Amino acid sequence: MALTPTTVTPQSIQQAADLLHQGELVAFPTETVYGLGADASNPDAVGKIFAAKGRPADHPLIVHIASAAQLSDWAEEVPESALKLAEAFWPGPLTIILTKKACVPLAVTGGQNTVGLRVPANPVALQLLQAFGGGVAAPSANRFGRISPTLAEHVAEELNDSVACILDGGACSVGVESTIIDLSDGQPTILRPGRITRSQLKAVLKTDIGLSSQTKIRAPGMMAVHYAPNTMALLCPAETLISMIDELCAEGKQIGVLAFSTEIANLPCLNILQLPDQAEHYEAALYSAMRELDKLALDSILIEQPPNNEAWAAVNDRLEKATV
Ligand code: TXA
Ligand code: MG
Repeated sequence: MALTPTTVTPQSIQQAADLLHQGELVAFPTETVYGLGADASNPDAVGKIFAAKGRPADHPLIVHIASAAQLSDWAEEVPESALKLAEAFWPGPLTIILTKKACVPLAVTGGQNTVGLRVPANPVALQLLQAFGGGVAAPSANRFGRISPTLAEHVAEELNDSVACILDGGACSVGVESTIIDLSDGQPTILRPGRITRSQLKAVLKTDIGLSSQTKIRAPGMMAVHYAPNTMALLCPAETLISMIDELCAEGKQIGVLAFSTEIANLPCLNILQLPDQAEHYEAALYSAMRELDKLALDSILIEQPPNNEAWAAVNDRLEKATV
């Protein structure tokens, strides 16, 4: 049965918090993407997340908390570096990985001895977390391997009534998932790029920050494609994009194009979406645009390759994962 998103009122926030206490799933907006939440201290409730998403049990979830004061409820030890980052970036799109306390269910951490923690910067998320009181385990509220939702309707389209409530907080302002930094051993390492950049993290920690090889190495066919549309998507530099469009159109193929430069956006092709040419605005629009093109059941989607610099790191990471 299709779900109808719920309008946010003090009453609906309280109802959602009650549902979490009862072990039900609640989808809620964050500033990055919509999350699919469950009481992080309740392994049965957490199990429902994996069932609803079709997600493998060994993929760890992020625990959302109302403030940095709750870090010590979940982390065995809270290093100075974590406090500094929390002070600088929370509430905000940064997830910090720390060694978990013994009480954190292994269902949340995918069997690992570390836990990801984040205070989101969305008023609805914060009100829900405050009303609930505890930690809310929440992955992005999409089916496993699909594009993260940035609107309540995206969640409703994809998840069934195993979700008790979807709080409708409108469009997510950041639009791509949080930056993840691992502080659980000596060397701080970025596991996933996001709006908060490596330079920003470096400036606060005053130390070098590693980049996980996991996010850099891509062995085609070996690793699952994440965040991917159903339609085959290809990333192309602007120079080759024009000839690709010509070639595919000449073959009678139905194609969609995601462009950010006016040069490409003005080409004669039916399904061109022009995204903003500033990285932050592009991020906010990307997932909705991919969903829009995906719905047209095209033969393929061509994506204009963005610049290769730090401001575009999160976008480039997600585009690499979405394309073949
Ligand atoms: O912006 C976000 O982070 C969103 C919103 C809802 O907060 N959440 C999100 O969750 O993107 P999810 O589950 O789709 O992605 C979480 C990522 C996964 O790649 C997972 O492997 C990683 O975080 N992660 C979580 N806990 C971890 C841990 N203990 N160690 C290593 N990676 C972890
Ligand atoms: Mg996800």
